[in-house]
Amino acid sequence: MLGHLLHLAGIDSIIIENRPQDYVIERVRAGVLEQTTVDLMIETGVGARLQREGLVHDGIYLNVFGKRRHIDFASLTGRRITVYGQNEVVKDLIAARRSTGRPLLFEVSDVRIDDLQSDQPKIRFSKDEDSFEIRCDFIAGCDGFHGICRGAIPADQIHIYERIYPFGWLGILANAAPSSPELVYSLHERGFALFSMRSSAVTRLYLQCAPDEDVSNWSDDRIWDELLTRLKSDDGWQPNVGPITQKGVTGMRSFVTEPMRFGQLFLAGDAAHIVPPTGAKGLNLAIADIWRLSRAVARYYASDCRELLDRYSEECLQRVWRAQQFSWWMTSLLHRPDTGNPFDSRRQRAELEYVTNSRSAMTSLAENYVGLPIS
Ligand code: PHB
Repeated sequence: MLGHLLHLAGIDSIIIENRPQDYVIERVRAGVLEQTTVDLMIETGVGARLQREGLVHDGIYLNVFGKRRHIDFASLTGRRITVYGQNEVVKDLIAARRSTGRPLLFEVSDVRIDDLQSDQPKIRFSKDEDSFEIRCDFIAGCDGFHGICRGAIPADQIHIYERIYPFGWLGILANAAPSSPELVYSLHERGFALFSMRSSAVTRLYLQCAPDEDVSNWSDDRIWDELLTRLKSDDGWQPNVGPITQKGVTGMRSFVTEPMRFGQLFLAGDAAHIVPPTGAKGLNLAIADIWRLSRAVARYYASDCRELLDRYSEECLQRVWRAQQFSWWMTSLLHRPDTGNPFDSRRQRAELEYVTNSRSAMTSLAENYVGLPIS
């Protein structure tokens, strides 16, 4: 998306990626787009398929110990969310990039970045046995949590804030038609479960599990038993069962790097921050970062003005910390407490009662979930 926004501003960029294109396109990731993300894709000409195939949702359900309550984002905030897989977004952006003829290289290796504090930072990498060096004005570190960019910043120049959760999510993709038009976040005595979807024929579901859960201990039957137990509600709702086509376990963490810049290196997305997935914020935060970065870079070339570049980190971090607080809160609201202290379970029930009965509390959840406009 950054390459696309820079292209629209007439600015050259080279995108390098160490994975193969098929891996990037096929890897199932997040699925919820904020209205702001959707608007940006449409306004910049990469939203046609999203508009045709994206599933627009007016709200979500919270299923609290079998009682399913609706939180109506549209009536509470006037804003909606769209379910459209992150890998579909990536597909559309790769197609847009290809149509510009600008460079997009997959399967590069041995990537190193240097001279970050000079005005000509360098990227070195190998591809197909050859070595290359790029000299550029800026490096955007959009290489995810495990990428090399954050690690290239001297440790005494950044501060890391981190919280690791004592549970993970076991996620599956199933060929089953969604039985609810909207997501169902569920808390059951046995733990959290989430019902989501990818299309009118594919359901995406998650279960709270141990962070190091071995997926091979989970037969399809065991997964469905557990999902049905945790998701079924008193009104008779339950997910449709179907063949499972993918399974995986992800750990959960909250993580922030400050600042998100070192010299001419600008970190964006998961390279700089991670949220637990309960608030569906990860992709949307990354889009907000690169919107800001593209604007700052464009201003620099248009008027030789560094002001937006200098404000990049601070402005991104405001939104990042809001999303961190919300994602932590949604996670603690909906997961089985790990403290073993019954006080925490009773307090959690009281909070869930409040969130599902008070219009003010619902509005607070809704406005955070749908996301703030970016400006
Ligand atoms: C998903 O559909 O993958 C999804 C939806 C909502 C979340 C997390 C993941 O909070």
